[in-house]
Amino acid sequence: MNRTPEEERIATIMAQRTGTDPADWFLTYKARHGMLVACEEIRAGLGEGSAVTQLLTCCTAVDPIIAAGLTPVYAEVSRCAASICPEKLRLPADARVVMLQHTYGIIDERDSALLVRIAHEAGACVIEDCAHGLARMACDAGGRPVADISVHSFGVEKMLHTQFGGAIWVNPASPFSAVTARIRERLATLPVAGAHLTSLTRTFVFWNRVYNHLPLACARALRRGLTAVGLFEPAVSDDERRGKVSREPMRPSAEMCSRVIDAFSELDGDMRLRTEATAAYAEALADVPGVELFSSACADPAQPLLKFPILVRDRATADRITEQACVAGYYTSTWYRPYLGPGVLDEAAYRVPADKSGIPSCMRIVETVATLPTDQGAEAARAVADIVRSVVSS
Ligand SMILES: Cc1ncc(COP(=O)(O)O)c(C=O)c1O
Repeated sequence: MNRTPEEERIATIMAQRTGTDPADWFLTYKARHGMLVACEEIRAGLGEGSAVTQLLTCCTAVDPIIAAGLTPVYAEVSRCAASICPEKLRLPADARVVMLQHTYGIIDERDSALLVRIAHEAGACVIEDCAHGLARMACDAGGRPVADISVHSFGVEKMLHTQFGGAIWVNPASPFSAVTARIRERLATLPVAGAHLTSLTRTFVFWNRVYNHLPLACARALRRGLTAVGLFEPAVSDDERRGKVSREPMRPSAEMCSRVIDAFSELDGDMRLRTEATAAYAEALADVPGVELFSSACADPAQPLLKFPILVRDRATADRITEQACVAGYYTSTWYRPYLGPGVLDEAAYRVPADKSGIPSCMRIVETVATLPTDQGAEAARAVADIVRSVVSS
């Protein structure tokens, strides 16, 4: 395979962390580009049709579906894991893809295996979205990953503080072998991000700091201007809020890969903090009236969640919790309110149904979720849990 030593190193790290083979890992400039290649090849191999996903997600997880010419269909999510509920799933006859998203990093192995079985029986490929759970995949009882394709992100607000990059695993045992062979071939031969794009990945954090120090209107204008003249690469572009994927799929440059490799040295410590925070929230909020938990997020042993989700009585209460946590120094933001975060500019392009009565759990989560921070460990989680208790009882 024609890849750089830096790509090889990341593939080896991902393989070691997941018990897989480095030859099955491929690097992309952003995870969405890997998803786009996968969706395009699935459509080419299996034909036109729909991709079943969820509204409780980022629009960049749906853009590849639309850009590949598949039709997004939004399924109900479970109240235990905030992921497509296999028991409630009614697949359309033309389903080609089912997205298995580990929302907030919650992995429910039983539901995942069931979802894969249902999808495969209907002739649909499963793309596992591990954007929130880096190097953690749903596995069967024998420890083998269950999805056909698994997508991992090194992007903005994810586990590594690298802002850019994605890693795609292609299952060598997938029953869709002709399709996965094409996906491997495409991913292996993508062009590499050039010098200009690499320079934008270098200045991303600097510009975000500048925006944060400006009044909102000035920050917006500067951001838009710099983006228009090609001097800033936004996390989500306006085109990406209209159902497109910005830029052609490509691989990361050696410099971007080096940043990812360096960042991996922090991952174990970070995961430990997040695991401890998850366990602390599960204990501190177990029996608090007015707070509902996600049972798979409270599983024992605890998982290193990217955010700890709770449901409260209404949106205002959820927003108050988020505000007060931020004021107390525990920064967080709500994922995913609005749905298809950060909110789309053209709902028709996304085929968002006007009638959402068929997905009540999903909409209840969108409306009343607060996603608590896990990056500061158990003590911080207990302090945030105190804020939650005080807000819900006031
Ligand atoms: C659930 C989910 N899937 C996929 C992506 C896309 O990842 P990337 O930014 O690396 O393209 C995101 C990004 O926010 C995400 O939140």
